[in-house]
Amino acid sequence: MRERSKTESVFFCGECGFESKKWMGQCPSCHKWNTFCEEPVIKTTGSGRAGNRSQGTGMAKPVRLSEIDAAGETRYDTGFRELSRVLGGGIVPGSLVLVGGDPGIGKSTLLLQLAVNLSEAGRKVIYISGEESLKQIKLRADRIGQTDGDLGFLSETNISTVTALLEREKPDFAVIDSIQTMYTDEAQSAPGSVTQVRECAQALMLCAKQNNVAIFLVGHVTKEGTVAGPRVLEHIVDTVLYFESGDGGAYRILRSAKNRFGSTNEIGVFEMASDGLHEVENPSELMLAGRPTDASGAVVTCLMEGTRSMLMEVQGLVTETSFGMPRRQASGMDYNRLNLLLAVLEKRAGLQMSRYDAYVNIAGGMKVTEPALDLAVLAAILSSYRGIVVEADTIVFGEVGLSGEVRAVTQAEERIREAAKLGFSRVILPQYNLSRLKGSETTQISLRGIRNIGELSALLREDA
Ligand code: TYD
Ligand code: MG
Repeated sequence: MRERSKTESVFFCGECGFESKKWMGQCPSCHKWNTFCEEPVIKTTGSGRAGNRSQGTGMAKPVRLSEIDAAGETRYDTGFRELSRVLGGGIVPGSLVLVGGDPGIGKSTLLLQLAVNLSEAGRKVIYISGEESLKQIKLRADRIGQTDGDLGFLSETNISTVTALLEREKPDFAVIDSIQTMYTDEAQSAPGSVTQVRECAQALMLCAKQNNVAIFLVGHVTKEGTVAGPRVLEHIVDTVLYFESGDGGAYRILRSAKNRFGSTNEIGVFEMASDGLHEVENPSELMLAGRPTDASGAVVTCLMEGTRSMLMEVQGLVTETSFGMPRRQASGMDYNRLNLLLAVLEKRAGLQMSRYDAYVNIAGGMKVTEPALDLAVLAAILSSYRGIVVEADTIVFGEVGLSGEVRAVTQAEERIREAAKLGFSRVILPQYNLSRLKGSETTQISLRGIRNIGELSALLREDA
């Protein structure tokens, strides 16, 4: 009996990579259901897993920070200002970056354009694809424009071949498209499984650090039920970028979920065209394109995404409830925050929200977590409730507290400047921010400071 129980396999959670000896319905680590799958155990040989891990020799010696030379730390410019900003100022040599996103979103296109940009800037670049044939890559390259820089292509899925090539050629930059298609002979499970993905990523991490080559990995975001989501990878790599579509249309948002070399607040905006991705340097214009100027329930606000200000339209719709329970729906903002704001409105402004359904939508598909959104949401709901059109040249921002007070937000000057730049002529903002403005950039624009939502309600009545 003992012999038979030696059929060696373990179970992994496909979401977070949690390892268990037996199958479980719910993962104790990430609490997802039905994510466990069985995989054979990797035989560890004397030379270590994945073949190239060094053995302990007892000779390691710590060094002092003052002895480490970091002066030569340069970053490669990506040729895309949007991408460089998200990365924290360019690509760090020897870093491992994961680019995740749904299939067809444009990951391969982005990385091919990046490879072209870097090779044109004189860097040595290798693009390794396990998904597409060289012919398919050529067809894509024809769409985005050719280069005569040092850019090599390889169609390969064996990770040992890939790392050997990178060791031999020592490029500055390499793309692996995608990590799910790579496999190592050391593990017996199928490519894309948790073990395979983890072993391949670790081999690439080692290769990146030892040869000082920056590697970008493509990872497919998988719906639940698939074997290995990039979750497992997130712990291994230096930086995780997500490439997503705002509203299912042509524009794409790049955001970082983890970054060892920069902030995770920054976003980059791109637009997919017939000749590849283009940067969108002024996303406010894009966000406001096609907005109605004479509809009630539409309010423009100015929010900060990292260091950049961005105008967005908040849409509110209030209708009478036809069943007992009022419906609430929030897209682009936190559902609980909406409920809280509606309660504040009911209690502090006397609106009978319990008799009305309320829907809020941030146009353009952005997901907003900034508190400065509060006042615009309330203005949109008030506007729809009363059927009052908020003047189209108005921007509203501010945080709202539980007693209905309007609280200060950060970077008010920057928000006002962005509003003025896009031709808005009136800003409704927290009084506290208004009284602390320097006053230099505020001459052509009318500023209305308010202290509580009662004042907001009164101000909107003036518009009617
Ligand atoms: P792709 O980069 O292959 O996506 P991913 O690698 O994330 O799966 O992009 C595929 C989509 O992008 C496809 O629907 C076609 C479109 N596309 C364009 O619209 N313009 C272009 O210039 C290119 C290259 C692709
Ligand atoms: Mg692809």
